[in-house]
Amino acid sequence: MIQRTFCIIKPDAVARGLEDEINDIIIHKGFKILASKRLTATRDQFETFYAEHKGKPFFDGLVEFMTSGPIIVQVLEGENAIQAWRDLMGKTDPAEAAEGTIRKKYAESKGHNSVHGSDSPESAEREINLWFKPEELQ
Ligand code: RTP
Ligand code: MG
Repeated sequence: MIQRTFCIIKPDAVARGLEDEINDIIIHKGFKILASKRLTATRDQFETFYAEHKGKPFFDGLVEFMTSGPIIVQVLEGENAIQAWRDLMGKTDPAEAAEGTIRKKYAESKGHNSVHGSDSPESAEREINLWFKPEELQ
């Protein structure tokens, strides 16, 4: 099934100039990048985006980090894109991520872990709609 998913290249990766390298891996894996934009987000945007984590001990640091510098928000399309992108990212903590995954290669820590991916079809739809207008997607 062809699906769309939402991807963020996080501030730690953008700060190291890794966006082209990460997008080469994404494209080589067969995803189409339907839309992509660079921006610096507000606390409000990330408090909404990460609402499911509100109240957890890492929440404030997560919002602080995600608004600390430019990010790239993207919509990826491909066969089973939601799970396929999660598989390519690897586990949240780079110490547990498999060889060949983006987090294994680039993440600095569990917090500064270079990329985000939606975890379900409902999240993908919600997250794409938070960051993109319909006319921004082909
Ligand atoms: P993401 O949402 O960013 O794609 O990551 P994920 O599904 O693999 O992880 P999730 O459980 O949704 O957590 C969201 C982000 O919060 C940070 N985090 N830090 N220090 C910690 O214990 C901790 N736990 C989570 C990570 O940046 C994670 O990606
Ligand atoms: Mg998540």
